[in-house]
Amino acid sequence: MQILKITERLEAMARLAAGAEVLADIGTDHGYLPIHMLQNGLIKSAILTDVNEWPLDNARRTLGLVGGGLWDKTDLRLEDGLAPLSVGEADTIVIAGMGGELISDILAAAPEKAASAKKLVLQPRTRSGELRKFLFMNQYFILTEEIVMENGHLCEIIVASKEDFGGDAKRYEIVSAEDADNVELKQFLTSEIGSRLLAIRPPLFSSFIEHKIDVQKKIAAEAQKGGASDTAELALAKVEALLAL
Ligand SMILES: C[S@@+](CC[C@H](N)C(=O)[O-])C[C@H]1O[C@@H](n2cnc3c(N)ncnc32)[C@H](O)[C@@H]1O
Repeated sequence: MQILKITERLEAMARLAAGAEVLADIGTDHGYLPIHMLQNGLIKSAILTDVNEWPLDNARRTLGLVGGGLWDKTDLRLEDGLAPLSVGEADTIVIAGMGGELISDILAAAPEKAASAKKLVLQPRTRSGELRKFLFMNQYFILTEEIVMENGHLCEIIVASKEDFGGDAKRYEIVSAEDADNVELKQFLTSEIGSRLLAIRPPLFSSFIEHKIDVQKKIAAEAQKGGASDTAELALAKVEALLAL
């Protein structure tokens, strides 16, 4: 059997999704995550799905390449989002490498299927705040979060569930900042960072906050140039709040 070499982002997701009886990898593309997990005995079986045929061909190629008889532990399905799953079929669902809004839309389109998994391992490439907001509004607990680097980009991984497993995972909670009597500012801190990430402060948390500060400084500078003083003021308030975390 040829051992797959995977990125730090996929390694982190594998660690967070380990222990699944049936793992569904939605939008699997090359199938690296589930195939790596099967090779390493981290899961019993996997459903690899994609909305396009060519990514499933990539996954078939990976399966052929690694060998080792993983065909009978994998099921490849061509369909949109959670459509190829039945309720309760997968105890762990991974949706990774897509925008936060698309991940939210996929979960929203099949709420019963999403909620039936014990664990959702979600990796938004963009708009992670939209995804956190969706999770908060739909009564999911954020169990943990990690930040990893891949090809020079910070990647957020969010693990959510309808159950908090007796832990201290919090539902919708406004992060308090010294001067956060501004609702927009509170919403920004809640969705862009969230109480869980703030409590955990995983490795790379400071780089993550520094990146957010840079973005807000740019927004403030652009807004000042364009005479949008309210936008500039809010962006600078965000910078202050981020610096205070
Ligand atoms: C950038 S790749 C990510 C691959 C892998 N999940 C990862 O994180 O490395 C995104 C994949 O999601 C698939 N995809 C996009 N929208 C989808 C949807 N609504 N349902 C299922 N798959 C989707 C694309 O076809 C593509 O293969």
